[in-house]
Amino acid sequence: MLPTETTLPSDLRTATIVPRVLRRIRAKGLVPTLRRVSFLLYELYWERRLGIDTADCIPREFLSEDPASIGYDPIGYVQLALALRNADLSSPTGTFIDYGCGKARVLARASQLPFERIVGVELSSDLCDEARANIARLSPRTTCKEIKVVNTNAKQFVVPDDTKNIFLFNPFTGHVLEGVVEQIRQSLERQPRDLTILYILPSASADIFSQQEWMKSTFQHSWNGLKLHVYRIHSPQN
Ligand SMILES: C[S@@+](CC[C@H](N)C(=O)[O-])C[C@H]1O[C@@H](n2cnc3c(N)ncnc32)[C@H](O)[C@@H]1O
Repeated sequence: MLPTETTLPSDLRTATIVPRVLRRIRAKGLVPTLRRVSFLLYELYWERRLGIDTADCIPREFLSEDPASIGYDPIGYVQLALALRNADLSSPTGTFIDYGCGKARVLARASQLPFERIVGVELSSDLCDEARANIARLSPRTTCKEIKVVNTNAKQFVVPDDTKNIFLFNPFTGHVLEGVVEQIRQSLERQPRDLTILYILPSASADIFSQQEWMKSTFQHSWNGLKLHVYRIHSPQN
């Protein structure tokens, strides 16, 4: 069993919800509390709707010895909706990859779009088990032909050559990210094609994708200390 740090939606399941909300109103004020409660309700709504359990955070120390890795902290469903809206979803075909898929929240949401294949890449074998369990109980059933979770270090993962959309929610930094950029470049060299990368990271962090001349930044959006970058690579044939 992995240790967990926060229990956001679980808070809503307890009978202590009313005193907690009142305490928070006293400490933080009414408007921030209403914002927080609506965030939690939206989280809970999507977890129930998809039939999955992806809440909680797990610090990096329990998952990896590599300081380039980041711990498990699922993206908020609101931010995920915004990011997916800005992907190249006019034609959500081919393979979709979530690097550092954790418990499969992003895979579950992506399975509602007409991708042919959805792949999660995850370093922690415990999280891979949880991700596979979530996918097995996903509701409603998806039309996607294949959703798979690959237990490996992202920098060693060979990008399938039909990948058209790549998602990263602050999964790792440094040498791992550099390895991933190289894997993407090699895949595009093998099979030139259009590709969209959705990258969400803390606003203050350096963005290595912005240093790649072969990627074009097409959209940026900041919220709550995070920044969404959309990069597009166009096939020389198009
Ligand atoms: C911030 S969480 C994002 C989880 C998921 N993408 C989501 O948004 O719900 C980062 C994830 O990246 C994984 N990770 C960290 N280093 C990794 C590496 N080198 N290879 C693959 N996964 C890694 C962590 O175990 C963790 O599950």
